[in-house]
Amino acid sequence: MGIQITPSILNADFAALGAEVGRIPGADWVHVDVMDNHFVPNLTFGPTMVEALARGTTTPLDAHLMIADPDRHAPAYAEAGAGSVTFHVEAAAAPVRLAREIRAAGARASMALRPATPVEPYEDLLPELDMLLVMTVEPGFGGQAFLDLCLPKIRRARALLDKHGVETWLQVDGGVSLETVERCAEAGADVFVAGSAVFGADDPDAVVAQLRAAAEA
Ligand code: DX5
Ligand code: ZN
Repeated sequence: MGIQITPSILNADFAALGAEVGRIPGADWVHVDVMDNHFVPNLTFGPTMVEALARGTTTPLDAHLMIADPDRHAPAYAEAGAGSVTFHVEAAAAPVRLAREIRAAGARASMALRPATPVEPYEDLLPELDMLLVMTVEPGFGGQAFLDLCLPKIRRARALLDKHGVETWLQVDGGVSLETVERCAEAGADVFVAGSAVFGADDPDAVVAQLRAAAEA
């Protein structure tokens, strides 16, 4: 599939989200950060917003669920029109069943790891996943500094994916910018979420193109 850039709307103007999505026509996906004030100490939006956003754009939506009890709630995001649904393994009771339910609901199934969660215990699950997300900040807020300590895990995840010969994409999220994107790409990531780096810029779509060029270099 190659390099994909997935801007997060977490730091966009919430009063004009449809228009904000229109400012990034070069994006491969739009990353939608769902937070529930339980799994993370912040609150954003739910499936109704995903449904509304999906109606307003042809760019597929990448829903990142930072919520408790994803086993119960995640399939609703696929039904709402998200093309990819990511749950956190730390919150999931039955990640294999959940990944299969997300796929059955018509979306790509993805699993996220917080910075302190190792990838190795989940090696045998990787073929069940369309994408693995290695968080490079503690989830909850945009604009945090990239955690270099996550780079070795990106490398180990890439090695495990290659070992199993699976097509699972490897996404990074948190503090990804023109400063840090090359480090992530060199470690083996191929899908890059960037929030404040994109929506903090005067020309967000130009930053999307610059991130892509830097990751492909
Ligand atoms: C953080 C979210 C990220 C966030 C990234 O919990 O999952 O998607 O929007 O924002 P930046 O790129 O500013 O770190
Ligand atoms: Zn995210």
